[in-house]
Amino acid sequence: MRGNFLVRRILQRFRQIVVFSGSVKIKLLLCCCIVFTVVLIAGRTTTLMEWRHRHDSLRHFATPRKGYTILINTWKRNDLLKQSISHYASCVGLDSIHIVWSEPDPPSESLRDFLWHTIKSNSRDGKDIELRFDINKEDSLNNRFKEIKDLKTEAIFSVDDDVIFPCTSVGFAFSAWQSSPDTMVGFVPRGHWVDKSRKKIDDYTYGGWWFVWWMGTYSMVLSKAAFFHKNYLFSYTNQMPASIREYVAKNRNCEDIAMSFLVANTTGAPPIWVKGKIFEIGSTGISSMGGHNMRRTQCIKKFVGEYGRMPLVSTSVKAVHSRYSWFW
Ligand SMILES: *[C@@H]1O[C@H](CO)[C@@H](O)[C@H](O)[C@H]1NC(C)=O
Repeated sequence: MRGNFLVRRILQRFRQIVVFSGSVKIKLLLCCCIVFTVVLIAGRTTTLMEWRHRHDSLRHFATPRKGYTILINTWKRNDLLKQSISHYASCVGLDSIHIVWSEPDPPSESLRDFLWHTIKSNSRDGKDIELRFDINKEDSLNNRFKEIKDLKTEAIFSVDDDVIFPCTSVGFAFSAWQSSPDTMVGFVPRGHWVDKSRKKIDDYTYGGWWFVWWMGTYSMVLSKAAFFHKNYLFSYTNQMPASIREYVAKNRNCEDIAMSFLVANTTGAPPIWVKGKIFEIGSTGISSMGGHNMRRTQCIKKFVGEYGRMPLVSTSVKAVHSRYSWFW
């Protein structure tokens, strides 16, 4: 009602102006201005109302219809594993937990008991969360992406035992993944770049944290904290060239880059970097060792050779929860 009244008033005023001003051009210009303003005001009010509505309904978004599986990689750090699992057990949407176990000794009875009880007591509304140890005979980085036959969910959240993400961040990443289930969606971006100054154009270099920070672009998200479709486990183990798996096992590095290449070769699109809080609970592993980036660059060159081209696609798009972006 109020809106209609306002519009009528504006039109009245407009008629007066049109009647009293002489030039047709001015009339036309004024007409355009007023129409534009009215449209703008109308558009803005509906957006505001929608926004308030959306703000209220965001809560429902946090509860996904189908859940995800956490695939957690650990090695001789039971205290970190306990910490991680007791945290994630309380997250909405978590369906099962798979622990990639590559130690020579199987998990102890006391560890199993502890985890089982923690999950039972921390899970939401007494939800049944499955806990599985995927025990491997040999210690290879490829174990992390072994095919799991009877996975109940399509979504996998692959995570290391020494980083923890709040449930809200994981839930947000999960909803981003649901809108793009072929893509890798993660919290830790990395990039690559081509050294065009040299003669050979195919001189690729790995871009670490500093690179992403400086350039604002990335082409990979690391599997230490990323969602991807379970089909990629099958592809990694059965379809990706065996030479890449061998290289990863031999050099004890770059399984995450190999996964990024695999997904990019399938989708032809970049991954999605989502904003999230990260808590590091362990000392940093190989990535803080000297010569890390050089070894990663070697991996990229090797994989480009295997694919016969560079499948990674760069982007500077970052997904941020709309509630935390100012206005819209
Ligand atoms: C990359 O994808 C193409 C199809 O798009 C496929 O034919 C090829 O085998 C894939 N390359 C590798 C190394 O998996």
